[in-house]
Amino acid sequence: MSFDLIVKNATLPDGRSGVDIACSRGKIDAVEAGIVAEAEKVIDADGLLVSPPFVDSHFHMDATLSLGRPRMNVSGTLLEGIALWGELKPVQTIDEIIERALRYCDLAVSQGLLAIRSHVDVSDVDLKGVEALLQVREKVADYIDLQLVAFPQDGVFRAEGAGKNLLRALDMGVDVVGGIPHFERTMAEGAQSVTWLCEVAAKRGLRVDMHCDESDDPQSRHIETLAFETQRLGLGGRVAGSHLTSMHSMDNYFVSKLIPLMAEAGVQAIANPLINIMLQGRHDTYPKRRGQTRVRELRDAGIDVAFGADCVMDPWYSLGAADMLDVASMGLHVGQLSSRYDMRWCYDTVTSIPAKILGLEGYGIEKGCNADLVLLQATDPIEAIRMRPNRLAVIRRGKIISETPAHIANLSLAGRPDSLNPASYGQIVG
Ligand code: FE2
Repeated sequence: MSFDLIVKNATLPDGRSGVDIACSRGKIDAVEAGIVAEAEKVIDADGLLVSPPFVDSHFHMDATLSLGRPRMNVSGTLLEGIALWGELKPVQTIDEIIERALRYCDLAVSQGLLAIRSHVDVSDVDLKGVEALLQVREKVADYIDLQLVAFPQDGVFRAEGAGKNLLRALDMGVDVVGGIPHFERTMAEGAQSVTWLCEVAAKRGLRVDMHCDESDDPQSRHIETLAFETQRLGLGGRVAGSHLTSMHSMDNYFVSKLIPLMAEAGVQAIANPLINIMLQGRHDTYPKRRGQTRVRELRDAGIDVAFGADCVMDPWYSLGAADMLDVASMGLHVGQLSSRYDMRWCYDTVTSIPAKILGLEGYGIEKGCNADLVLLQATDPIEAIRMRPNRLAVIRRGKIISETPAHIANLSLAGRPDSLNPASYGQIVG
């Protein structure tokens, strides 16, 4: 038996170690110890972590790398960011959006980030972002799964024609229905927008991913309507609420009803730790609220929770490097997810959980899955979050598409607790 690729002596995110991964024709044929066979290419992982690719479930690729265009965000607030984006939209070109997006995709590949759900603004009649990102989706298809969300940044009811533009974007091939209920004119209009958008998705058989309650206002409760509509329309497992930051300030009694409702409905949650720790709580003096939804409580209720990058060098956020471990680390810190089990779970929030939310097929390291792998210079997921290690090899459909040399300083792993012992993770599923 001969394979295209064998990765030898890998440690997997679930704690399995000493594993060989044999691949051919773009798929994984076997995951077991001691595979003896010919292969065109053999990679010795030497006990290091071999992971399925990172997945970003929430990004804005139409705005990325535009930092400083046409000016900087002085206040640092979400609302000035939206206003600044409104200044950039009319002056940027389709070619410019494509060029920036492709640069970002190159960076993403080098970080082992091979699936991205990107929102694309559909507020304006020209749909420049949609045209650009549809082309980008095509261009990067061999190395990145790019899923697009029709996102009415200025409000699907509030911005004139935004509803029609959103439907046009879906007709053009955008994959997912977006929304921004907290930015509509009133709470009532926000709730109506959730209903309308969910009905559009149900009619077309599409997924939903709404910016929902990205606010410090505890009265912003559109997630309740989103859960209700998800259940009413039978969309469970296909609807995500993104951000959900107002939940951090809600009354505990209300939340004690809300979270079970979300779980019943099968709504998924996407937090964006880097951006929300930066943007939320800007009107507070002290104590200042953390800008993150109730990650632990949502997870413990059985709800799928992922961490997204949201922004990299754009009107809302000046930093970022397409490194989902950076995102996981911030989510871990802000959520005080410090036990071995919790830290290990944070790795799942940027790999297997967002893969499920995006509905990616063939994701994972099992026989029959796509041969998409990332070899990291770390021995386990917790060390990966701690070190943000080099991605020594990034493999897509059995072929190496990016390599980064080992970093000598990173080789000193002395003093790490028994992180190679799966038992120390607690009870991990998946
Ligand atoms: Fe966002």
